[in-house]
Amino acid sequence: MANLPILQFEDKILQVVNENPVVVVIGETGSGKSTQLSQILLRSGYTKSGIIAVTQPRRVAAVSVSRRVAQELGVRLGEDVGYAIRFEDRTSERTCIKYLTDGVLLRESLSDPELKQYSVIILDEAHERSLNTDILMGLMKRLIKLRASTLKVLITSATLDGEKVSNFFSECPVLNVPGKLFPVEILYSAEQPKSYIESSLKKAIDIHVNEPEGDILIFMTGQDDIEKLVSRLEEKIQSLEVGSCMDAVVLPLHGSMPPEMQVRVFSPPPKNCRRFIVATNIAETSLTVDGVVYVIDSGYVKQRQYNPSTGMYSLDIVQISRVQANQRAGRAGRTRPGKCYRLYPLAVYNDNLLDATVPEIQRSSLAGSVLYLKSLDLPDIDILKFDFLDAPSHESLQDALKQLFLIDAIDENGTITAIGKTMAELPLEPSLARTLIEANEYDCLPQALTVAAMLSVEGTLHPGPSKNTDKNSKNRDKKRKHAPSDLPDGLGWGDHIQLLQIYELWDQTDYSIDWCKDNNLQVRGMLFAKDVRKQLSQIMQKIAKGSLDIRRKERKRDRKPDYKNLRKCLCVGYASQLAERMMRHNGYRTLGFKSQLVQVHPSSVLRTDDEGMLPNYVVYHELISTSRPYMRNVCEVEMQWATPILHKLEKLNVKKLSGGINQSEEKKTEILDFSKKEVNDVGPIDDADSRIQAARERFLSRKGKK
Ligand code: CDP
Ligand code: MG
Repeated sequence: MANLPILQFEDKILQVVNENPVVVVIGETGSGKSTQLSQILLRSGYTKSGIIAVTQPRRVAAVSVSRRVAQELGVRLGEDVGYAIRFEDRTSERTCIKYLTDGVLLRESLSDPELKQYSVIILDEAHERSLNTDILMGLMKRLIKLRASTLKVLITSATLDGEKVSNFFSECPVLNVPGKLFPVEILYSAEQPKSYIESSLKKAIDIHVNEPEGDILIFMTGQDDIEKLVSRLEEKIQSLEVGSCMDAVVLPLHGSMPPEMQVRVFSPPPKNCRRFIVATNIAETSLTVDGVVYVIDSGYVKQRQYNPSTGMYSLDIVQISRVQANQRAGRAGRTRPGKCYRLYPLAVYNDNLLDATVPEIQRSSLAGSVLYLKSLDLPDIDILKFDFLDAPSHESLQDALKQLFLIDAIDENGTITAIGKTMAELPLEPSLARTLIEANEYDCLPQALTVAAMLSVEGTLHPGPSKNTDKNSKNRDKKRKHAPSDLPDGLGWGDHIQLLQIYELWDQTDYSIDWCKDNNLQVRGMLFAKDVRKQLSQIMQKIAKGSLDIRRKERKRDRKPDYKNLRKCLCVGYASQLAERMMRHNGYRTLGFKSQLVQVHPSSVLRTDDEGMLPNYVVYHELISTSRPYMRNVCEVEMQWATPILHKLEKLNVKKLSGGINQSEEKKTEILDFSKKEVNDVGPIDDADSRIQAARERFLSRKGKK
């Protein structure tokens, strides 16, 4: 720790921070930005006037970095040094260095717009360009005007893109912390691999057998690949002749790993033993693993993309950018000269890779962010004129406005409503927040709380490879979910109801651990759901100023098996995620977005009637594009609940919603016409790939102009 590059610049950093409200700090990954900057400022007294906040785009990083800092300072985590991530707050009255996700800081600013408790705000990992960090940058810009003398803002970045950030903050000073990187030799493959898992495996074993000691870091795209490669590596290592090479241990590293597994990666390696660390891009910049000498770069990353015109998500495996490739290579030269094996040719690096990753703001749904910005009670913030480092497209802003209008969060003039304000207080996506508010009116809040909580852990409930959304899972797509026979099936009403029933059964066992195990449910996930539910319930209590009596209502359960109130509330919350069954088909067409054909995801428990027909109307939690467009987590709703939504859609005037900003080129999208004649005329299904390509081209051309 003593020789971390950043520590040699302590005086310089303090001087510049003293003299300027905003400072950009650029330093190689591993130079000590995340762990040391806060301590440097602590040493020089910045915590006397407030707390030092350090934001992280990733939950894992907030937890792991705060743990490390607590350790270095010799204090207990959660006391002087703590962290806060969604649904988990480990801070106390004593906390003076607080690591938190960028999303949590955004939420805090709702109740305290000037963030008065903080004397310093460090936006860490700004190069990651997460949606929330991008929005925080805009907020900081106005906050430093308001709190010029009492707030210091530091923005850290691992790449030279920091220059752009400096421009954004009126040419604020940029401190470059030269890293002590050792040279890294870069080796390219002659051609693109057929299977990057197989190629990585081969390369890794090759290094292990032929190269001197030093850990190997392998970049994979996601948890599934990681699990596959880990077990293939373990097999292969077992089969090597005893004594032919040193011992080896294989460690996975990804965002959804339980904390005790993560610790293994950061604890010192055993003597005379080579570590294989198989990681997602989390190891690119946000977590540093010491001891790495060899890097294997598959050249791919898994990226979630959102298409604002169809409301469809896809989890695509895409090529990394050159910035990412260089970051990956850099991991090999931290302790001594290293080697980076790129599993792709130099020509691909030069000609095919984008310069930089497309910022999240340009590939996400913005409904939550737009609602957030609208709910900031600030006269000088107009969302559509909001100062973004890279502006999102008009299309995605309009998509967000439309969704918010359909769930009554904004009125037809685009002004936030009372409902919208309440929604913003809930740490949930707008659809679920809206559902809870409606459920509060319809006496089914306890059930809705359970559904929201279960949805937030749903991906981690089932052991083994998680429910898949990637393109490699075509086979799994086909299989129906085999609910163990004892688990309820949602009575045919759909997945939300099933999640509710599962939780209620568990509740009746008094939250028995054995029950989870018997039913093949992850204990950790269920316990987390219970905790999330409790927190959401507390927030709802606060919102209703204590007038809710959730306990009492909880006893008065909906005895009717049709869950009518709950489904009706879900229909209100998911108003923009409504789909109508196609005549003569068991396929659906979406109504809230550009009309397109979708199917119910095979994992759904939604049931057909006696004639083999699925319900006429359903709402869905998300649309994902895997082998084909699917609705995931689906709930049957009734026609009379869908009708008002359809009327609202007919009246929808996006131009008015957005305050008329768009004397736009795209006049045809201003008024959305969902007249019935389209029922049998769905038109071509939107091609997500070409849209993403188009988004990339827009991004590139914008970059080019700058
Ligand atoms: O933020 P930046 O990439 O500049 O570096 P950092 O995260 O502050 O890491 C500095 C050093 O702290 C790394 O080289 C790691 O050795 C160590 N560290 C650790 O051991 N465990 C962590 N959870 C975080 C950092
Ligand atoms: Mg860092």
